[in-house]
Amino acid sequence: MTTEEKIKVWDIAIRTFHWSLVVLYVVSYLTGEDESELHNYAGYAVLALIAFRIVWGVIGTRHARFTDFIYGPKKTLEYARSFLTRQPAHYLGHNPLGGYMAVALLITLFITCWSGVEYIGSKGQGPLATDTGVVISVARADGDEHEEHAEGDEFWEEIHEVFANLTLFLVILHIAGVIAASLVHRENLAKAMVTGYKKQGPG
Ligand code: HEM
Ligand code: HEM
Repeated sequence: MTTEEKIKVWDIAIRTFHWSLVVLYVVSYLTGEDESELHNYAGYAVLALIAFRIVWGVIGTRHARFTDFIYGPKKTLEYARSFLTRQPAHYLGHNPLGGYMAVALLITLFITCWSGVEYIGSKGQGPLATDTGVVISVARADGDEHEEHAEGDEFWEEIHEVFANLTLFLVILHIAGVIAASLVHRENLAKAMVTGYKKQGPG
């Protein structure tokens, strides 16, 4: 087998997961300020994707499994050092840094979505709606009464905003990492996430 031979690395589930996540993340981020139904539904869909990814990380194909790309500190440091040399270690699945980035993204995305659900729950909406978020009657100066939703819990609102932005920061690092690794290994990794195929040998 030559080192240029292509080998299937990312199965169809991982590729569909990845590009759906990209679209839903962008939609969620851009609709955050609107507090729209679209924002909430895109967020629920992200939660469903994360749940799927966790299951697939246990029972999925070889390179989809967490055990395939979670390395100890020694291997991770070795890889980080070799990344700066002309002969970086080559991994067929995620390299150790890419693996930790995948996990970090899944965790921060989960906290973003969870805090969003908790926040609307504190306003009496969504699956975690609580009694404290009941609609309250407000007497206006003109004597008319109208109904308003109680203020949501500021704690969850703050967590939501912080984690939405922390995820954005990780996404930027992630894309920078993909570009850097693509250059170092002389292989278009974004294309591999579309076709599923990567080069067999060291790049
Ligand atoms: C990947 C998923 C998500 C991302 C990236 C995201 C991102 C954002 C952003 C950037 C904001 C604006 C924050 C601000 O500047 O105040 C926001 C607000 C909000 N999000 Fe999300 N969100 C996500 C998921 C969810 C989910 C699952 C829910 C609930 C079902 C939700 C409910 C809300 C609400 C109610 C607000 C308005 C908060 C406020 O009044 O400041 N979000 N979101
Ligand atoms: C256009 C922008 C993006 C490109 C080109 C891109 C590209 C890639 C590539 C090439 C990989 C595989 C890395 C490797 O070879 O080890 C990957 C993995 C991953 N990316 Fe992205 N990505 C983008 C945006 C995003 C965004 C916005 C998110 C999340 C909000 C994200 C989350 C992930 C996750 C969780 C993985 C791990 C995949 C898995 O094992 O399931 N990516 N990405």
